[in-house]
Amino acid sequence: METRLWKLNNSSVDDTLLQEAAQCLRDGEVVAFPTETVYGLGADGLNDKAVHKIFKAKGRPVDNPLILHIAQFEDLELLAREVSPLAKKLAAAFWPGPLTLIVKKTSIVPDSVSAGLDSVAVRMPVHPIAQRLIHLTARPLAAPSANKSGRPSPTDAKAVSEDLAGLIAGIIDGGPAKFGVESTVVDTTGRVPIILRPGSITKEMLEKVVGEVLLDPAVLGNTAVVAKAPGMKYRHYAPVAPMFLFVGTNARAAIASAAATCVKQGLKPAVLLGSSLQLAGVLAKNWQNDSVILAKNLYSWLREFDRAGSDIILAEGLSEDELGLAVMNRLRKAAGNNILRADLGQKLFVQNGTEPLFL
Ligand code: TXA
Ligand code: MG
Repeated sequence: METRLWKLNNSSVDDTLLQEAAQCLRDGEVVAFPTETVYGLGADGLNDKAVHKIFKAKGRPVDNPLILHIAQFEDLELLAREVSPLAKKLAAAFWPGPLTLIVKKTSIVPDSVSAGLDSVAVRMPVHPIAQRLIHLTARPLAAPSANKSGRPSPTDAKAVSEDLAGLIAGIIDGGPAKFGVESTVVDTTGRVPIILRPGSITKEMLEKVVGEVLLDPAVLGNTAVVAKAPGMKYRHYAPVAPMFLFVGTNARAAIASAAATCVKQGLKPAVLLGSSLQLAGVLAKNWQNDSVILAKNLYSWLREFDRAGSDIILAEGLSEDELGLAVMNRLRKAAGNNILRADLGQKLFVQNGTEPLFL
């Protein structure tokens, strides 16, 4: 299949190009589009056949439900059997924006979208192209992240094309995504909201609006529990090269020394650090002690490491408050839960996962 490319300007969204994309979607085709979090792989969310094309293109397990994207609040009432006062409060505070609400679904939602669950995930993106596209298509758009299943989510059109060119009808290029991590997923079907996947709308921000907020223990890497969001159980957001996450007070120095050992062993290491590191033979990315910078660039850096043929990736962890919770959740997953602990004055040790050769 030939994949069309529509290049658009975020500040003046061109309807003529977007009409072509909307027509493809109404015809039951699959089109990738920008959102403020990551690029989405969209299809008519009420058309079962179109939804199946998403699963096929991504190679996504069919037990992993999709998010329906809407452009106005009234559409939530079409999709949700009940919109609790809690869901209404959260939507009023954070929509449009990077927040997904889990609600009880109506029968209009195909089983393929909800993967057979009696709930459905709904989000209203704030990105002007996403909003206009949903409006022109006049359907809720089912859209997972526009990557091959298991790969890092795409934050620009080039990353989408790398994974899906030839497999989908088109890609709308709206430049790099603003936040870089996927939306916060919150279950609103119970009395107390539960974060199933952390994102840029942080636990602290949610608590300010609704008081008590729980966290699904799977978010913190607890593998003894089954994740409530089916997608959270997979190794995910993963680069090709094996990755190790360093935590503790001496993580930075331990990474520098491990990278040097890797170079001596003839490997091509890549590192993700909160400060700069200049070491011959090491590809280093510096997030300047700023979780916002790390969130925005994490996936594109992981893809860059793969393109550069890195053999091993060493990443520094950060504290799990505010946006740090979402970023650490993605880092743990990308690292396949391989975690090394480095504290000042102590020997580096394996906290979880496999022992690396540099140890
Ligand atoms: O920012 C985002 O959310 C992006 C953009 C494109 O909107 N989309 C995205 O979709 O990340 P996806 O499919 O990659 O992740 C959706 C997550 C998965 O972990 C899935 O299991 C969970 O939401 N989910 C969807 N429906 C659910 C439901 N009814 N109950 C529990 N979890 C659900
Ligand atoms: Mg995804």
